[in-house]
Amino acid sequence: MLASRMFHDVKMEGYDMAAANIGRRDFLKGAAAATGLVILPSGVLAGENAPSNKLNIALIGCDGRARAHYGVLKGENVVALCDVDEEHIAHAAKTFPNAKHYVDWRKCLEQKDLDAVVCCTLDHTHAFIANWAMNRGLHVYCEKPLANTVEEARVVRDTYLKNRGKIATQVGTQRHQYPNFERVRELIRDGAIGELQDARAWGNRQLRKDGYLPGKGKPPKNLHYDLWLGPAQHHPYNPGYFDGRPGANCLNWNMYWDFGTGQVGDMGSHTMDIIWNAIDAGRPETAEAKGEKYDPEVTPVELQMTWRHPANDWRGPINVMWYQGGMMPNSPRKYVNLNRIGHGAMFKGTKGFIVCDFNSRLVIPWGPDADMTYFEPRKEEEVAEPMGHFQREWIDACKGDLKTSCDFDYAGLMIEQMMLGLVAYRAGEKIEYNGETGRTNNAKANSLLAKEYRKGWTLSG
Ligand SMILES: NC(=O)c1ccc[n+]([C@@H]2O[C@H](COP(=O)([O-])OP(=O)(O)OC[C@H]3O[C@@H](n4cnc5c(N)ncnc54)[C@H](O)[C@@H]3O)[C@@H](O)[C@H]2O)c1
Repeated sequence: MLASRMFHDVKMEGYDMAAANIGRRDFLKGAAAATGLVILPSGVLAGENAPSNKLNIALIGCDGRARAHYGVLKGENVVALCDVDEEHIAHAAKTFPNAKHYVDWRKCLEQKDLDAVVCCTLDHTHAFIANWAMNRGLHVYCEKPLANTVEEARVVRDTYLKNRGKIATQVGTQRHQYPNFERVRELIRDGAIGELQDARAWGNRQLRKDGYLPGKGKPPKNLHYDLWLGPAQHHPYNPGYFDGRPGANCLNWNMYWDFGTGQVGDMGSHTMDIIWNAIDAGRPETAEAKGEKYDPEVTPVELQMTWRHPANDWRGPINVMWYQGGMMPNSPRKYVNLNRIGHGAMFKGTKGFIVCDFNSRLVIPWGPDADMTYFEPRKEEEVAEPMGHFQREWIDACKGDLKTSCDFDYAGLMIEQMMLGLVAYRAGEKIEYNGETGRTNNAKANSLLAKEYRKGWTLSG
């Protein structure tokens, strides 16, 4: 409590908030190290014998997808609810009656007793909220996709890397908790398909739209429409952006460029994760894409993107590919109908294929010498343990070793690759990418790495 008071006083004197926060925690670290306690950003000492082992959490975007988080969050202190729709706050307040209420997430992040943020807002605000929260020393769980542009992905990952060792982050790709993710990785690492040559993921969802919805009616009193738009360019209100089922309303807006990135960021975040978990990749060297004609308002339904990744310490260079909207890779054998797998992945090696979805896999040895003698299944004790509940992993990490499966380093690189693919699609050419500088060899592509925000909104606040 004393440390918490000190922090408030320092802030009032006009010191830098993040620096003060870190200073306070450094001060506490010595005491905690001696007692084995864990320090939360709010200054609460937590541990088995500590008075409180609960996180003070702000739930930003508190209805829709957020409902899927209520169960885990009920075990913590939800001290702030933020939503641009006051009726949605009222809904969440029934479950979290002790929280303060906000309609603007920038104000919410000023609340002093926060340890952590769970962000379930629209895609075009994720990088903003995640970045601002990390700048305040807060742990962050952010729904997928983490970013809508290459620049957003890089900024958020950089901020995380600067704070690594102090905060826990997780992107909401909860299918990662299926044991199949690790089984696929182990098969590849153990040589079940020989040397890995390429990896492909696909999703067959097709949501066709004509363009931004025309202005219709006035926003209801409970909805702060200007805050809903946030950093996005202005588009007139239309109830069609809001009338989806809770948790699926994202399908009413995520295919418009100013609000989302279509299936790439939506199901692509989940399905590419199967590949990303298995290939230990960093940034790609090239990106190319083909698909339906570019529409400046609506993201493409049919799209295929390819990235070239350099070799790492256990595999050679590989191509990674994404297919959507009916575009599909060829099946290795006619009797395997890939079209029956709505969201799936396939790995090609020198001695066969793995075809999989989120929770099942098929190994297809292929070629005259694919006799499997080169493959030895792992012993039980060598198999990766189940990670358990995905969201709980993050809660536990906030209170413990800060390690999660889909932190902003891992997931930041993955979404950077996906966003670079969209840049290649829009540039209409294969592009070379310099991962160090974040620039390409193509002037048009370089102009598409970032986007312009509405006046008054900044990614790094
Ligand atoms: N991990 C998953 O499997 C999964 C599933 C569904 C949705 N999602 C993700 O969750 C997010 C939300 O999707 P949804 O379908 O719930 O959308 P939604 O349109 O219902 O919005 C979610 C909530 O956020 C509020 N909101 C919108 N903008 C806000 C802002 N700037 N500040 C505060 N609150 C704001 C809305 O009023 C609503 O209560 C999307 O990014 C989507 O990709 C993830």
